[in-house]
Amino acid sequence: ESGYITIDSGYKNTGATKSAITFLDGEKGILHYRGYSIEDLAEKATFLEVAYLLIYGDLPTAEQYSKFENAIRRHTIVNEDMRKIFEGFPVNAHPMGTLSSLISAMSAFYPESYDDKGPDQTDLHIIRLLAKLPTIATWSYKKSQGHPVNYPQNQLDYCSNFLHMMFALPVEKYEVDPVVSSALNKLLILHADHEQNCSTSTVRLVGSSHANLFSSISAGIGALWGPLHGGANQEVIEMLEAIKADGGDVGKYVEMAKNAKTTGFRLFGFGHRVYKNFDPRAKIIKKAAYDVLEKLGVNDPVLEIAKGLEEAALNDEYFIARKLYPNVDFYSGIIYRALGIPTNMFTVMFAMGRLPGWIAQWKEMRTQKEPIGRPRQIYTGSTLRPFVPIEQR
Ligand code: SDX
Repeated sequence: ESGYITIDSGYKNTGATKSAITFLDGEKGILHYRGYSIEDLAEKATFLEVAYLLIYGDLPTAEQYSKFENAIRRHTIVNEDMRKIFEGFPVNAHPMGTLSSLISAMSAFYPESYDDKGPDQTDLHIIRLLAKLPTIATWSYKKSQGHPVNYPQNQLDYCSNFLHMMFALPVEKYEVDPVVSSALNKLLILHADHEQNCSTSTVRLVGSSHANLFSSISAGIGALWGPLHGGANQEVIEMLEAIKADGGDVGKYVEMAKNAKTTGFRLFGFGHRVYKNFDPRAKIIKKAAYDVLEKLGVNDPVLEIAKGLEEAALNDEYFIARKLYPNVDFYSGIIYRALGIPTNMFTVMFAMGRLPGWIAQWKEMRTQKEPIGRPRQIYTGSTLRPFVPIEQR
């Protein structure tokens, strides 16, 4: 400590704000959005209802919902010049990189977003983001398959529209399987907000300078991409595949994780800054994984590896002492894979789910007129020293 400044690296014990959006109890494994339990919402709501709830504070009436859904439908098409920007990316560009670039590019297509007219003037930007992110998200997949992109079909609901854009081909009719769209709906709801996590704190910090909503959300996508955060869902499947290829010896990987200092290996999908008990989302996703794979008749050996790894870790002193439980990313990739989503798009799916939460938190920060985020530091560099000309160095 120096004077009045205390360092709290990673903000482990620092509250950044007061918020009415999401309630977490890490000890009890409780998660509520605006007072509604995640268990209720995941079972009974649509993702757009939850998006409305997070952003506007209450579940919509039938009239508010239809207005919201229709406004989104009217903005699902993306400016064709955005596609030209996208076409410039190499085919192996990571979908999170293209997504954060194109969401940032939206500010260029809607220059009125540069004017800081305050949070109440952003409704159209909010609709554009919710409407266009799914459309943009599918372009990487279509390009990777050498297939033409699909345009949104506005008679479809939000999740079915995304799935249609992802998997429809011009050569045959594509019917969205309701098992698949309802599994996607549940996953998006479970990812929709999570109080002051890394990417949400990023969106708030960028927005605190009164930067526009598109560039704030683009920054959040960048933070989410990190393997310690949303990028973990891709890491989990790659880890499970590696364990399967290595003979399925989960104990060996638990041991490697326990010697992280020397092996540098972490069990992705385990551990959480706040949850020191089971992540309530992981419980729901684990059950949904068994349910969806059975309904789709998918037998994925990686699911049994995940279950074996979870059991091995939960009975190991190292994990018990550190209260490391499976988190939201541990089982989600197994469902995404069963739905046909490619591994390198798992974190894009996380971003699509988290988008309404980012928007709600940004709007709350601006509505509460919070000051620009500007932390201090403790200086540990050189004391004053005279300039030395290069010939004397
Ligand atoms: C998400 O914040 C959110 O809410 C995030 C999120 C959201 O919805 O927005 O919930 C989404 O990001 C979930 C987390 C996904 N990340 C991973 O699965 C990556 C693996 N997990 C870890 O890297 C870690 O657990 C974090 C990043 C999630 C939390 O890190 P912390 O709170 O900074 O904890 P830490 O790194 O200080 O670990 C505490 C101890 C350490 O051991 P010691 O130094 O005390 O001996 O636990 C160990 C760590 O080495 N540890 C692990 C581990 N996670 C922590 N050891 C092995 N495997 C792991 N996964």
